[in-house]
Amino acid sequence: MRHLINILDFSVEELDELIKVADDIIANPVKYQDACNHKILGTLFFEPSTRTRLSFESAMLSLGGQVLGFSEANSSSAAKGESVSDTAAVVSGYCDIIAMRHPKEGAPLVASAHSHVPVINAGDGGHYHPTQTLADLLTIHHEKGGFEGLTVGLCGDLKFGRTVHSLIEALSRYKGVKFVLISPEELKLPSFVKDEYIKEKNIPYEQSTSLDDVMPQLDVLYMTRVQKERFFNEEDYLRLKDSYILTTDKMKLAKDDMIVMHPLPRVNEISVAVDEDPRASYFRQTLYGKYMRMALILKLLNITV
Ligand code: NCD
Repeated sequence: MRHLINILDFSVEELDELIKVADDIIANPVKYQDACNHKILGTLFFEPSTRTRLSFESAMLSLGGQVLGFSEANSSSAAKGESVSDTAAVVSGYCDIIAMRHPKEGAPLVASAHSHVPVINAGDGGHYHPTQTLADLLTIHHEKGGFEGLTVGLCGDLKFGRTVHSLIEALSRYKGVKFVLISPEELKLPSFVKDEYIKEKNIPYEQSTSLDDVMPQLDVLYMTRVQKERFFNEEDYLRLKDSYILTTDKMKLAKDDMIVMHPLPRVNEISVAVDEDPRASYFRQTLYGKYMRMALILKLLNITV
């Protein structure tokens, strides 16, 4: 039985295969509409979510399956003090596959050790978010034609931004990728990502506190929200929250074919006027997420269509 806890649980070949299946789903949705008949997805969300939970649900429903679950810890037995491992053991008796989001790093890994069905990490604290990375990879693949040789700028909260951590891990395996890390001093990329996936593998990278300075060289700009819920005090959050705001003026510094991505939700870091720019790919990115989650569910349930 396979789980998806960290994006590196899948080889590059497996990620290519998921992209192929997602593309086939986009081209032939009807072919897949009954693929998961009588299968149930359990969504255990101990932390708020719109896109991730609803796109998982939409993915399973579009495959002809069904969904059950909860969307806040307060409405589960966690409120009574139940452990993640007990919840996982119980719920795995009620469904065929589980998607779990939790504020504690490592919680989905613990769940996977006690579950009788595949567990997907739908975001664990400030750690990882592998299914957002699946959405990101399909977006880049469609809009840039591949991954090799890209200069990828990651901007904002690189410390707590779990989507950034998983994306760097995934892209670090492709030739010629360069990372440009743009953040305030206090929100720099943590060493568990930087040392292991950038320095250790000798991947070229640059750090900057200025978005303007590095903008002209980027092929992809991945903007992120400052992760308010992971700050210890409000004062620091307020001081840092508007460190970077992407405006139409700043977009003039970018290449004509650069794409702007964002895992969403957006707070203030991209001005709404940028939405009109064809290079803004963040709303398209949310749709790609659904198709990759469909491909992922099929893979983990060993269903071929
Ligand atoms: C991200 C997350 O939950 O980490 N959201 C998402 O799943 N698309 C990003 C964020 O919350 O800032």
